[in-house]
Amino acid sequence: MSDSASSLSTADDIGSLKASLLTSIGDASTSAALEEIRVSMLGKKGRITDLMKTLGGLPPDQRKTFGAALNVLKTEISAAIDARQKILGAAALQEKLAKESVDVTLSPRPASEGRVHPTSQTIDEIISIFASMGFEVAKGPNIESEYYNFEALNLPSSHPARDMQATFFLPSEGEYKTVLRTQTSPVQIRTMLKQKPPIRIIAPGRTYRCDYDQTHTPMFHQVEGLVIDETTHMGHLKGCVMDFLRAFFGIDDLPVRFRPSYFPFTEPSAEVDIGCSRKGGELKLGNYGDWLEILGCGMVHPNVLKNCGIDPEKYQGFAFGMGIERLAMLKYGIPDLRTFFDADIRWLKHYGFLPLDIPNAALKG
Ligand code: DAH
Repeated sequence: MSDSASSLSTADDIGSLKASLLTSIGDASTSAALEEIRVSMLGKKGRITDLMKTLGGLPPDQRKTFGAALNVLKTEISAAIDARQKILGAAALQEKLAKESVDVTLSPRPASEGRVHPTSQTIDEIISIFASMGFEVAKGPNIESEYYNFEALNLPSSHPARDMQATFFLPSEGEYKTVLRTQTSPVQIRTMLKQKPPIRIIAPGRTYRCDYDQTHTPMFHQVEGLVIDETTHMGHLKGCVMDFLRAFFGIDDLPVRFRPSYFPFTEPSAEVDIGCSRKGGELKLGNYGDWLEILGCGMVHPNVLKNCGIDPEKYQGFAFGMGIERLAMLKYGIPDLRTFFDADIRWLKHYGFLPLDIPNAALKG
């Protein structure tokens, strides 16, 4: 028999323990303090629990009376703790309600606090123009397999064009390394693998390359376009790209020129230039006789279709890709790409858009 049990074996002892416990419970001013009392008395190693364990060693008559008294004590203490908990909970709620009350007479904060970032704004504009041409938005992961980023796009590991894209590689095992996607083109592959033609998608998103200067940042955004069906030809590619560029820049007669080029995933391939003027060091878009490169495009290479299980004898189509910040810089006169990612609130106030004042073509009648 333990000392504590023997020292508590009279009704008086239990009575005084109860009195002191009830005082402590009444004094507890936080839920945490209350919980401490509960654990120290009723927990696995608590005082009352310990006393319960000593019952077995008592003579039968004592065990009966002492056991019954302990049970009553336990019930009363539990009930007192619960009651105190309710009071503390109600007080805490009152305090919270008082603190969080809404002052309906307070005037609203000016709507000019935040701005829509020019990249988000430009993505919105691009989506609404292509949506009106029947394109859907597709997505792919930023952390990509070399297979989708290069190999399936007709860029085998031996291909010199892989070196053009200074790639961030991630620690990886297996046949294909893991990379931060260098282009949005892998979304073409992912879309064709899970969707049968006809396909008409655009895929805006982040892309990554180890570059840093006035026109290159390690992270930037591109938008990819892909159209696959049985009849689409180069004339459709030209019309689609031309319509987009004229709508985006809001210049109906913007000259658009297709220049033969090379991309591994298209054949034939073209780079697209738009009309501009650079007179006096100032860049102006329009019919001024000078040209500015704006995007890459072409007819999807038969090997790319084959890699996606699409029969190139039956299906064909076009693809294009362009830099979103580049479009934003030209449209909104932003001179340095790096500033897009500086998170400078003064820059955002200057170049950003008010959320309720966005020129969104999709919202026009
Ligand atoms: N992925 C290319 C790049 O990052 C851009 C591009 C060119 C995408 C031609 C295309 C395309 O889909 O057909 O430079």
